[in-house]
Amino acid sequence: MKYGYFDDAAREYVITTPKTPLPWINYLGNKEFFSLISNTCGGYTFYKDAKLLRLTRYRYNNVPYDNNGKYFYIKDVTDAANTVVWNPGWQPVKTKLDSYECRHGLGYSKFTSSKNDVEAKLLTFVPMNDNCEISKLTITNNKNTAAKLSLFSYVEWCLWNADDDMKNFQRNLSTGEVEVVDGGSVIFHKTEYRERRNHYAIYGVNTKVDGFDTSRDAFLGAYNGPDSPDVVAEGKATNSVASGWSPIASQQINLELAPGESKTFIFTLGYIENPEDDKWEAPSVVNKKPAFKMLDSYKTEEAVDKALKELCDYWDNLLGIYHISSKNEKVDRMVNIWNQYQCMVTFNMSRSASYYESGIGRGMGFRDSCQDLLGFVHLIPDRARQRIIDIASTQFQDGSAYHQYQPLTKKGNSDIGSGFNDDPLWLIAGTSAYVRETGDLSILKEIVPFDNDMSVAKTLMEHLKCSLNFTITHKGPHGLPLIGRADWNDCLNLNCFSEHPGESFQTFGPSEGPVAESVFIAGMFVKYGEEYAQLAELLGDDAEAKRARDEVKKVYDAVLDAGWDGEWFVRAYDAYSNKVGSKECEEGQIYIEPQGFCVLAGIGVKEGLAAKALKSVEERLDTKYGVMILQPAYTKYHLELGEVSSYPPGYKENAGIFCHNNPWVSIAETVLGHGNRAFEIYKKTCPAYIEDISDVHCTEPYVYSQMVAGRDAKFFGQGKNSWLTGTAAWTFVNISQYILGVYPTHNGLSINPCVPEDFGDFTITRKYRDAIYTIDVKTNGSQSGVKKLTVNGKEIEGTVIPYEAGIKEYKVEVIM
Ligand code: BGC
Repeated sequence: MKYGYFDDAAREYVITTPKTPLPWINYLGNKEFFSLISNTCGGYTFYKDAKLLRLTRYRYNNVPYDNNGKYFYIKDVTDAANTVVWNPGWQPVKTKLDSYECRHGLGYSKFTSSKNDVEAKLLTFVPMNDNCEISKLTITNNKNTAAKLSLFSYVEWCLWNADDDMKNFQRNLSTGEVEVVDGGSVIFHKTEYRERRNHYAIYGVNTKVDGFDTSRDAFLGAYNGPDSPDVVAEGKATNSVASGWSPIASQQINLELAPGESKTFIFTLGYIENPEDDKWEAPSVVNKKPAFKMLDSYKTEEAVDKALKELCDYWDNLLGIYHISSKNEKVDRMVNIWNQYQCMVTFNMSRSASYYESGIGRGMGFRDSCQDLLGFVHLIPDRARQRIIDIASTQFQDGSAYHQYQPLTKKGNSDIGSGFNDDPLWLIAGTSAYVRETGDLSILKEIVPFDNDMSVAKTLMEHLKCSLNFTITHKGPHGLPLIGRADWNDCLNLNCFSEHPGESFQTFGPSEGPVAESVFIAGMFVKYGEEYAQLAELLGDDAEAKRARDEVKKVYDAVLDAGWDGEWFVRAYDAYSNKVGSKECEEGQIYIEPQGFCVLAGIGVKEGLAAKALKSVEERLDTKYGVMILQPAYTKYHLELGEVSSYPPGYKENAGIFCHNNPWVSIAETVLGHGNRAFEIYKKTCPAYIEDISDVHCTEPYVYSQMVAGRDAKFFGQGKNSWLTGTAAWTFVNISQYILGVYPTHNGLSINPCVPEDFGDFTITRKYRDAIYTIDVKTNGSQSGVKKLTVNGKEIEGTVIPYEAGIKEYKVEVIM
């Protein structure tokens, strides 16, 4: 069952009922000012950092779902005896609407709904070059008679630090301050301005208003929720000026519309950061100039439409960088629109703010952000470059790294600390992707601090060397890399038991166990060790390249010696040197991660083990909804394994379908040339292919979720944790670089598709460095192998099109 449809021409997902199984959200904002908005107008807004600079309040764990948003109440008093109150997004009043439609587009959302012949059209977006969210609301009277309406706006301020905001009431209930300007057309939120004087927020509308409220309790009534505000019921704003408690911004606009008449109002929610040297006149008097400048820029419909066009042009441009045209509508839709869009969102958010990540817990993940880069780097390489430097700045001198950092301060988070032994290698992955994409070797020579301390800075290449050496110097009894607190699988905590007998994994902090080893990190080391060697060669350091390759060889051999279980790769060795993910285990006999990653790194390919491992995946882990992370599921809690077995069978890391590593297996299949199987795996978790089962899947049908419940779960096939997942980047890498086969190397684009037999011919346009490649592929019903490659009329050997500076256009013909 579906709750909407894709409108590919408009690049929108159109939701046709507000009652989706879960809130289906969109992200507004591309750079520093962001909002989350659901299909019922729920959500919240922040500047740069969802924890530290939150503009509007959201209520977690609330009923009903999705509580608090930026709401408009329309009160129709045309017939005084039968007044009706409704919202364009249905929530929070939930009056049954006569029509409803929500269109989530690229950086904007549009709502069109109607009740009793009054129509509301709401457009909301964050313009490209301002720190504000614009809501353009058009109300039309479709009655035969004049309509009398009152419109009320509503946003609830968060007192900036969202974590403190929901805990520190003894202080916060006395700090809220507002200022009302222009009779309520503009409301300033200036809590904290007294001591900081560096920022404030505004909410303004481009018209005179008939009243306002800035005290939440005055607007709602102390015992009401946003579904039944007193002020709306009374039809009269109280002109309350908040002092402490919970400040809000609300305006009342009364309007009379002749039959057929429309009126448009533009609301601006903005963040103003004062220049450092700004002089303030007296405590709590804000410099209003920048606020009015911002409001002025969006006071007309033309200005708003122009800003929306800028946003759309921006996306046109970005999505032109990689574009496919094939007979497979769903592939085209995902590659050309939604997968790349999600990559941008994960790049911006890492795992910080979604409807499943509170924005107050995690900031930017070291491992997560490095992987997000893989799907984003072709879009805006300059931003990827800066991100690599920011991430590397949170590394320690021994190569280990803070697992997370705060986006505002860019400082490592010491509450979480370090100890995840895969982290260092992801930095090589991200950097290598950037250099292959851009050819910009200068990044390797950038001076980058360790732990943000410039007195201990070294070049980025030295950082990568620390990453490589970290694995080299942290190996266990089988010559395999030590796992530390965990590797990619955060929940595989193999060192907890030995050091903390009798405690559960949650009750103690970082644990650098002495011996538990990871075959997954071994796979990573083989792949990224080679990528490191290539970077060293590009810098002319052949000796270092050789050293890296020698170390890679050792780890490769260690995997064949101790990491092969007969039919698949072992997952790890625990703190007692017992195998994890082996036929010897009672539960958790096979894990997906080493099968995907070892094979995609090339381990066991020539030895004939890779094909066996993937066959085992197909036989033991595959389901109709995707490939599960492990089998059999853990039915009891294993203290020696940690969090992984704390989940009920089928959920999350305990035998869920963890979408992030499905593309690894799909890529691994392409390494063996299995186009049919690679694509089958791609399709199973691909949003466009599972749109029809939205009632089972529940999360948004236009983006990936982190997890789909596995076969052992009660709700097999149900998605959770949509949007912020490494699945976005890895799937884009899989489909664009391996299945469609356009892979950036240091010397040029390599074209080597691996598609299903019935995929048909296709054309890709790809901007690479400063040239445009038009690549026509004739598949001839084959799954892999390039028979003939012609570039600008000349046949070339191999699959790599040598990049030559100066050539701006490459016409490429590929015959498979
Ligand atoms: C984390 C990732 C991790 C994955 C598997 C996600 O929630 O963000 O860093 O690799 O879970 O445990």
